[in-house]
Formats: sequence, C-alpha cells, structure tokens
Amino acid sequence: MHALTAQGITKAYGGVTALAGADLTLRPGSVHALLGENGAGKSTLIKVITGAVTPDAGTLRLAGAEVAFASTAQAATNGVAVVSQELNLFPDLDVLANLYPMREPTRGPLLDRGTMAERAVPVLKQLGLDIDPRVKLGSLSLAQRQLVEIAKALIVQPRVLILDEPTSALDKDSSARLLDILRVLRDREVAVVFVSHILEEVMNLCDEITVLREGRTVLDAQPRADLTIGDIVHAMLGQDLPTPVRTTGKPNAAKLELREVSVPDRLTKVDLTCAGGEIVGLAGLAGSGHTTALEVIAGIRRPSHGAVTLPGGGTPRDFRSAIAAGVALVSGDRRRVGLMLDKPVWENIAQVRPVALAGAGLLRTGALRESARELAARVRVQPPNVDARAGLLSGGNQQKVVLAKWLAADPSVLLLDDPTRGVDLGARAEIHALLRSVADAGKVVVLCSTDLDELVSACDRVVVFHKGTVCAELTGDRIDQHTILHTMNTGAV
Ligand SMILES: Nc1ncnc2c1ncn2[C@@H]1O[C@H](COP(=O)(O)OP(=O)(O)OP(=O)(O)O)[C@@H](O)[C@H]1O
Ligand SMILES: [Mg+2]
Repeated sequence: MHALTAQGITKAYGGVTALAGADLTLRPGSVHALLGENGAGKSTLIKVITGAVTPDAGTLRLAGAEVAFASTAQAATNGVAVVSQELNLFPDLDVLANLYPMREPTRGPLLDRGTMAERAVPVLKQLGLDIDPRVKLGSLSLAQRQLVEIAKALIVQPRVLILDEPTSALDKDSSARLLDILRVLRDREVAVVFVSHILEEVMNLCDEITVLREGRTVLDAQPRADLTIGDIVHAMLGQDLPTPVRTTGKPNAAKLELREVSVPDRLTKVDLTCAGGEIVGLAGLAGSGHTTALEVIAGIRRPSHGAVTLPGGGTPRDFRSAIAAGVALVSGDRRRVGLMLDKPVWENIAQVRPVALAGAGLLRTGALRESARELAARVRVQPPNVDARAGLLSGGNQQKVVLAKWLAADPSVLLLDDPTRGVDLGARAEIHALLRSVADAGKVVVLCSTDLDELVSACDRVVVFHKGTVCAELTGDRIDQHTILHTMNTGAV
C-alpha cells in the first residue's frame, strides 16, 4: 500500500506554470528525495499535498483513499505534517504555543499546557534543543527556530512527514542529528519526503528519488542505489553541469589588507591581503574566525586592535560607511539579511545602489528598474519579471535577487557568506562564473563557505582559520577537499 500519491497535479499562478502534471508516490518506511532546480515546483507540490494551496487539477490519495486537505492543520490531523521552506512561527509567542498551533491536547475549553510541555520536552531534546519551552520564540537563533519548526511537525506523530530544505539553516551537527532522526522515523514506517540541494546529504540518506523539471516529474520514485550523481544532475537540468571556470585571475594593484586584526574571543592578530582579480576563500570550523574576518571587513564588527584598509585606502567604520566605500556583503541567510518580500524584485535590487552612490544625485526610477532588469537577467532570476513581488519567487531565486542587489552597487570588494545555500546546482555554477567575471574586472572577491566543494571549485586561494588565527594558505593543487578539511580540524597542513 502506498502511503500517499499525488497524480497529475497542475497549478498555475497567472501566467506562471508552477506545476504541469507532477506525480509523486510515497511508500511507508522510505526516505524520498524530491529534487529539482530552483523554481521546478517542489515547494508548490508540497503545498498542494499539505493543503496550503488548491491545485487546478490532479488527485491525492492517502493510504488509497482520495483526499483534499483544506489547510495544513487538517493535513496534520490526518497524519501528513510539513516543515515548510519559510518558517511559519510566531516570534511573540512562547515555544510551546508555537508547537501546538491548533492547541491539540485541549479536551475542555482550557488549554492543558502541562500535557503540552510533557510531550514537547522529549521531542525538543531528541533534536538537541535544550531550551525551556516557555521562552519566547523570538529570543531563539535561526537554527533553533528551524528545529522548533521540525519539532512542531514531529509532535503530531505523522505517517507522512515532508521537509522542504530543512537543513539550509542548520549547522553541520544539527543537520546530522536531524538526518539521524529521519532514519529512525523510516524504521517506524513513516513516509519521509526530503527536499535538499545538497546532493551529498541526499545520497547518504534517501532510499528513493523523484526529480521535477519545469513542473513535471522527470524521474519517478527511482531507487537511489540505481542512480549516480551524474544521472540526477542530468535529470534536474536536462543536460550535464558546465565545468567550472578555473583560475584565470591575475592579481592587480587593488588591495584589501588586514593588519594584526584582533576581536576579543574571536580573532588574534590576523594578517590577510586580498588582491583585486583573485577569488579568496576563507575556511574554518564554526567559531574559528573566518566569518568574523568577513564581518570586520564589512564594518559590522570593529576590531579591538589592528587595521583594515580597503582598496580605495578607506577603513570600514560601520556597515553603512563600508557600503559607501564599495564593500558588498552577500549572505546565504536570506531570511536574516532579508529581502523586502512584499516589494517587487526591481526595488529589492535597486535598494543598496543609492547608498553606495550617495552624493551622486537623484536616480530616476526608470533607470533603476532598467538596470535591475539587466542584473536579474545576469544572475538568471526565474521568472524574468522584475515587477513580480520578491516573496513569490522560489527560495533559490530569492537568493539570486540578494546577489543581484549587491552587484547593483558595483562593489570594489565583494564579500560572500555561504552565497549558494538553497541554490540549485545549475544556478550555483552560474553564480561561480559570475564571481569569476567580477574578479576578472579587477575586484576583490572574498568567499566564506561551509561547502568545501564550493571553495575548491570557485577559489584561487583558500585561507584556513583555526582558533582565531590563520593557520594555512592553500593554492593550486593544494586546494582540495581533503587538505582543507584536515587543516580546518587540526590547524596544520
Ligand atoms: N504564490 C505564487 N505566485 C506566483 N508565482 C508563484 C507562487 N508560488 C510559486 N510561484 C512560481 O512557481 C514556480 C515554482 O516555485 P516553487 O517555489 O514551487 O519552486 P521550488 O522548486 O520549490 O524552488 P526552490 O528550490 O528555489 O525552492 C516558480 O516559478 C515560482 O516563481
Ligand atoms: Mg522551494
């Protein structure tokens, strides 16, 4: 018996076809990867299955019987729970209230918070969340909130559990813990659906794979063991991945310099020089100082000792003065640095330019919109309509808008912190090519990434941090995953 099937699902939004006859077949006791490029329709299919969106056509069957859920709450009551890509939590309520949006254990008119807490604490513990369920959600970090969202889905003890990019906001430890929990659920005969752009995770965890392309199922519940990464990429893109553009960078005179930069508890007398024309990677374990170095350059953090000199000779005093001095910071954490989701794409892209060009006089709306259109095309935002509200774009396409917004300022120093989180493989290769062209135009490009493969394929030089100091600089053939990982962990090459 199938746990759940979706057949011939179609859904269009105005002129945009999100789903064009998608199928998905889930079995109990199997972890099912749902894959596809940004905008392929994964989140929309999940919303249809869990009652958040009404399809134009198609049928859903739960354990053989046709169903149509009117809301995600109704789906959850029927054993179909979802962890959505955008968090659906209330920052002003405490964790407990967030875990029980439907206030389920209520028998009478009163809410039995005792029972709620009793059930919640072990689930939170299992996820490694050692918090009092009575603290306000808003006081938690992004990763903790993501775990609360997952706990909320687990508490209903679902028969079908769907997770839309659950690991994109989690660090390595939390991700590993989550994957372990999913394995346990599989053993308890739960049907698990897992959306991720990290194919390594998929290959380690999943039993079956479905790939969507342009709203259609192009690979239907294939056993993972029968597939190579190459097969999956081909199904996702409809072609093979382009080979990365490797080192053409010729360093030029523009220089970014850190001299003996210290930040209490984080960095100790760090020296770093990055020249225009090269892509410099910063690597390290969480807390080793590489992201702090990025923040110091971006003016978000002031060093207690030492100096930062930007290519124009200036010093970043705060975030705004750094932007005015030509620094741009692209963060993969788009929920934090945020887009204005209710504003059109072009306004988001045009947002930092006036700050960067302060003093250049008024910029005309028409001109801003036109240059936003060019940039959106350059990073290949899909659909290519800059008047669409940013909130309506798929997650990965929102990330491309963040990149376009910073490129709009024509920065002399481009800083990137995990810029391709949640971005599909094809777009990721395009973004790397774009970074190369920015470097080739003589700019300084500095890239922090938790993705070693990204450092290897995009960088000319990788600077490895360990316990607040620079422990190695890798170039040429020494830039490989094994060497980076070893150096990050041991502090020695
Ligand atoms: N409410 C909406 N209004 C208009 N268009 C929408 C809406 N929701 C989704 N779309 C469009 O439908 C298409 C599919 O989007 P969806 O979010 O399902 O993609 P996805 O596969 O989840 O991508 P990602 O990997 O980036 O999260 C995209 O082109 C998107 O812009
Ligand atoms: Mg999505």
